[in-house]
Amino acid sequence: MSQPNPLYAERRARLASMLGEGGIAIIPTAPARPRNRDTDYLYRHDSYFYYLTGFTEPGACLVVSHDGRSTLFCQPKDLEREIWDGYRLGPAAAPAALGVDAAHSAAELDTLLPRLLENRSSVWYPFAIHHGLAARVEGWLNAVRARVRYGALCPAQQHDLCTPLDEMRLIKDAHEQDIMRRAGAISAQAHIRAMQRSARMLRAGEDVREYHLDAELLHAFREAGSQYPAYGSIVAAGANACVLHYQADAAPVRSGELVLIDAGCELDGYASDITRTFPADGRFTGPQRALYDLVLASQDAAVAATRAGARFNDPHDATVAVLAQGMLDLGLLDRNKVGTAQDVIDKRAYFQFYMHRTGHWLGMDVHDCGSYVEPSEVGQVSERRDPLSGEIITNRPSRVLRPGMVLTIEPGIYVRPAEGVPAQFHNIGIRIEDDAIVTDTGCELVTRGVPVKADEIEALMR
Ligand code: GLY
Ligand code: MN
Ligand code: MN
Repeated sequence: MSQPNPLYAERRARLASMLGEGGIAIIPTAPARPRNRDTDYLYRHDSYFYYLTGFTEPGACLVVSHDGRSTLFCQPKDLEREIWDGYRLGPAAAPAALGVDAAHSAAELDTLLPRLLENRSSVWYPFAIHHGLAARVEGWLNAVRARVRYGALCPAQQHDLCTPLDEMRLIKDAHEQDIMRRAGAISAQAHIRAMQRSARMLRAGEDVREYHLDAELLHAFREAGSQYPAYGSIVAAGANACVLHYQADAAPVRSGELVLIDAGCELDGYASDITRTFPADGRFTGPQRALYDLVLASQDAAVAATRAGARFNDPHDATVAVLAQGMLDLGLLDRNKVGTAQDVIDKRAYFQFYMHRTGHWLGMDVHDCGSYVEPSEVGQVSERRDPLSGEIITNRPSRVLRPGMVLTIEPGIYVRPAEGVPAQFHNIGIRIEDDAIVTDTGCELVTRGVPVKADEIEALMR
């Protein structure tokens, strides 16, 4: 049997050192989830559990105590079940395979957990992740409380384990960065395939549907060994691109229209997240190109603002500054009504066409964990009135970027028909999204295997 990768034991040891004297942590994996009748959804492990074990079977739970000792509960060997559902590692093999100190059948959780919790000062588990876990922990603690007359001590404190684990997960180590680079490269090739399929079919006079392009993505993901899409792929033809969470469906992909594809594979537990917007037949029209070049310029500004020491909000602010000026220059917004680019920003007038943020953390989860506020500055609270809603918004300084953080950079413009909006831009939706690893001097874009420049997209679709 191969040796366990030591990085999981190192992560468990780091976590243990954060639990405090007498602390103990409980980290279940995700349950199998029924889809309908006796068929389950494709199984996906829990990200926190996987981060600490590298183990992908359902029905498992890890316990880590402050002294570094780790105990795994996992599905017992069961030859009958393994004929139906596949191989199980089993508790006997788990210590050697995963580097945990002890392993038991998951059937023993309710008996053994109270013993592991006894005489501890605090118990940590992820809050609001696992349905019913808090009640289960209470049950285990009640079993400890039933023994206090015999001298047992029951943990008096409960803490959210997400807090220390989120901080650990926010900085991706070399192993994680390597997987994310590979995931980004696979997804980039998938986007190229989809673009080329669109142009090829339209040139051949075929009836192209969004699902044809979705099929190219899925093929490329699986062909390269990725397990599944990291999220439901968006393949949006024409006006569908203005629906932010549109899913690939059956709408026709027509010459003269744009297609927005937001899709990324998950590779070995890590997500990638790419958006490209391209002309269905391989040639941008004038108005499409004008909007496209504006979104790309705003992404360039965001990329330039992404480096260690900058704030998480800096790329967003850089994007908005470019979009605000561009919206005035292209006549999407009327200077006579809204004023200067600074007025567009101050009044949040750009929101009509750009209504999401410019990025999010990326990692095992596509919208990955990690605080967006700088932890050392949470007390620095300021207030402002939102110019559109009139609400009072509480601000805290946004996160200082550090090497190894990974975030998306994804500006866009979505033009729904409205009075005063030039008709040539109606129903155009454009987003350009890349995945960036923060470095000391800037950022590494791991998804540029698929080009972003309009000329380069036209060239690869020719
Ligand atoms: N694909 C999800 C996102 O871009 O946030
Ligand atoms: Mn994204
Ligand atoms: Mn995306």
